[in-house]
Amino acid sequence: MSNKMWGGRFSSAPDAIMEEINASIGFDYRFAAQDIRGSQAHVAMLAEAGIIPADDAASISKGLEQVRAEIEAGTFTFSRALEDIHMNVESRLSDVVGPHAGRLHTARSRNDQVALDFRLWIRDTIDEIDQQIFDLQKALSEKALAHAASIMPGFTHLQSAQPVTFGHHLLAYVEMLARDRGRFTDARKRLNECPLGAAALAGTSFPIDRDKTAATLGFDRPTANSLDSVSDRDFVLETLSAAAITSVHLSRFAEEIVLWATPQFGFARLSDSFTTGSSIMPQKRNPDAAELVRGKSGRVIGALTGLLIVMKGLPLAYSKDMQEDKEGTFDALQSLSLCLAATTGMVIDMQPDLKRMKSAAGSGYSTATDLADWLVKNLKLPFRRAHHVTGELVRMASDRRIGLEKLPLADMQHVEAGITADVFSVLGVDKSVRSRTSYGGTAPANVRVQARRWLSRLAKEKRTV
Ligand code: ARG
Repeated sequence: MSNKMWGGRFSSAPDAIMEEINASIGFDYRFAAQDIRGSQAHVAMLAEAGIIPADDAASISKGLEQVRAEIEAGTFTFSRALEDIHMNVESRLSDVVGPHAGRLHTARSRNDQVALDFRLWIRDTIDEIDQQIFDLQKALSEKALAHAASIMPGFTHLQSAQPVTFGHHLLAYVEMLARDRGRFTDARKRLNECPLGAAALAGTSFPIDRDKTAATLGFDRPTANSLDSVSDRDFVLETLSAAAITSVHLSRFAEEIVLWATPQFGFARLSDSFTTGSSIMPQKRNPDAAELVRGKSGRVIGALTGLLIVMKGLPLAYSKDMQEDKEGTFDALQSLSLCLAATTGMVIDMQPDLKRMKSAAGSGYSTATDLADWLVKNLKLPFRRAHHVTGELVRMASDRRIGLEKLPLADMQHVEAGITADVFSVLGVDKSVRSRTSYGGTAPANVRVQARRWLSRLAKEKRTV
């Protein structure tokens, strides 16, 4: 049997392999709700513009409701022979309402239809992801406020650098996530133009009202160029790049959680809910959730790269290559959503070991910069000279395997005569952290202000979580 939708020009059915390579229903069934919504807006506009009879439009719209109900109830049979969601819905519509279902496809094409469905789907998904990032920001900010003064080592090159607070560290991620949300919001703004009515590629000779359908579907305006409307997937690429950057942020945090949870670091204990045991080594508590958040970033980045490659050689307008825009995107955004949920759960459950963190914060001569700063402030040494003097003192302490605060004053004065006992006041980690009061610095007072600022900013969004 030739195809129900374009049988006119064809006399036989496609080869089985052709059907397999061509069909997208196995994944674009996810567009069912968007497809029906778009069709209802289109058919109402067609009737209002006098392009099709009003009673046919009403019957089509009602029929589409029935199709929607069947899909929601799980009683709808998707057919691969009908290729994609657009033709599956339309074919069932014609069973339900009769041949006038065929009027629905007036003045449109699957090319503008799929562009519309995907924009609607991405728009909904961005809203869901935004909510999830919000939830994570809130969990991090709450934990940060509770730990505004909890001291941990700050690292550069993963070498102990200067003490910071755990709250400060967590708020670093709140800032990153805010920019991530900004990127999704920007992508959403730019994609919010309606491609419906671009038809196959050139527009249509029917007197359609594109402003009307755009407004009905919540778009800011119709797209201005019909070729662009059906050809570009930059709205998907932008969303995937925002997703890739977010997943890289989550991956870095996950890597830190993996490190913190090792017995060697021992900075944090993860709850049983986000760890697994080993079937052979009874002592193990593996941070699987964190490892998977780290690992899944690969898929998200891969989806972005994959779609960039699909698109890069395509001439205008639509080519079937573009059907490859969906599976990677679905997988990537679903993975990101799962990673966000898992990270939020880990943050809420995580128990930092404050004693361990604090004692690690003092190791590795992490207050050496404070000593150098003391020399600059009190002895008016140029910073470079102070750095050199401090280096000698660190070497002396390190040779004796003791901390800087354990060096006898007389030995210090041997290196720099002007040093007084006051120097010991800056060698402790508490003092060091408290002194970092510059804007954006790690002093607990600053961190408290920042955490409260975030919590009130988030509360103002008045979301129901
Ligand atoms: N299933 C197709 C896709 O996902 C819909 C558009 C088909 N258009 C066409 N001219 N064959 O891209």
